[in-house]
Amino acid sequence: MKNPVMVASGTFGFGKEYSDLIDLNMLGAIVTKGTSLEPWEGNPPDRIAETPAGMLNAIGLQNDGVESLITEKIPWLLKFDVPVIVNIVGTTADEYAEVARRLDGVEGVAGIEVNISCPNVKEGGIAFGTDPAMAAEVVAAVRKVTRLPVIPKLSPNVTDIVLMAQACVDAGADAISLINTLLGTAIDAETRTFKLANITGGLSGPAVKPVALRMVWQVVQAVDVPVVGIGGIMTAEDAIEFFLAGAEAIQVGTANFVNPGAALDVIAGVDAYLERHGFAHIREIVGAVRSPVDKGKGD
Ligand SMILES: Cc1cc2nc3c(=O)[nH]c(=O)nc-3n(C[C@H](O)[C@H](O)[C@H](O)COP(=O)(O)O)c2cc1C
Repeated sequence: MKNPVMVASGTFGFGKEYSDLIDLNMLGAIVTKGTSLEPWEGNPPDRIAETPAGMLNAIGLQNDGVESLITEKIPWLLKFDVPVIVNIVGTTADEYAEVARRLDGVEGVAGIEVNISCPNVKEGGIAFGTDPAMAAEVVAAVRKVTRLPVIPKLSPNVTDIVLMAQACVDAGADAISLINTLLGTAIDAETRTFKLANITGGLSGPAVKPVALRMVWQVVQAVDVPVVGIGGIMTAEDAIEFFLAGAEAIQVGTANFVNPGAALDVIAGVDAYLERHGFAHIREIVGAVRSPVDKGKGD
């Protein structure tokens, strides 16, 4: 990666959608929309609701399936000099593994991000990402069939995020990314109806940043693989906070909907911050957050 700033899955399509608006070559990496073995239809509308400081979405992981990704979407991206990380989804561990197996060796795929927020149909719909044993099962199944870096993406809808991260690392994860969206809902008081057809949706945007930052920091303390910070990063300052908490890379998600150039602004702003504070490399600030009692000391 040229820089540690990626665009988050589901907020940047497959890159093509943004290619007339920004120079894709400038990005650290593109993480593509969640892709399953067969095409998924997704949920009926309405699928998006704006909230104070964020948005709720219930897209339902609509996608065209892995074949279309391999034959059309990835080849189109080959003309750019940017790593592509494919975000994968499934309803059984075998399904995840089959998507990963098909992606192994495909030119232009640099890594696999495993979205474990999907419901496990075999286990009665419990999300893989809320049970450490099920998360480990998916990660191990994917690990077995690919030489690509495997990056499980954790759901924040758990009591103990560290348990989930450790289970994934023990099962062979090369890195961990977090967070996915926080489960929420929205009601229209005037019409007395839920705003989303699915009733519940995933909250993202600035509202989730403090939760994401806390979870990233906790996971960084607990595992010895790189952590990718995601959640409410709208500006370079937000990104810096995640680096200070120990993230080695970050992803920009909802911000892309507000400003298609958000990730590029973050990249420029991080460089400016490093220069302003006299740091030669981003590594110098990773995990460098200080305790409030040490504030102002040792500068
Ligand atoms: C419309 C929308 C679609 C998303 N689709 C996916 C997806 O397919 N796979 C995934 O792992 N995360 C998906 N996410 C979650 C984001 O990648 C990200 O983890 C989350 O939104 C938090 O980051 P943010 O606050 O910067 O948006 C989606 C988010 C949004 C808003």
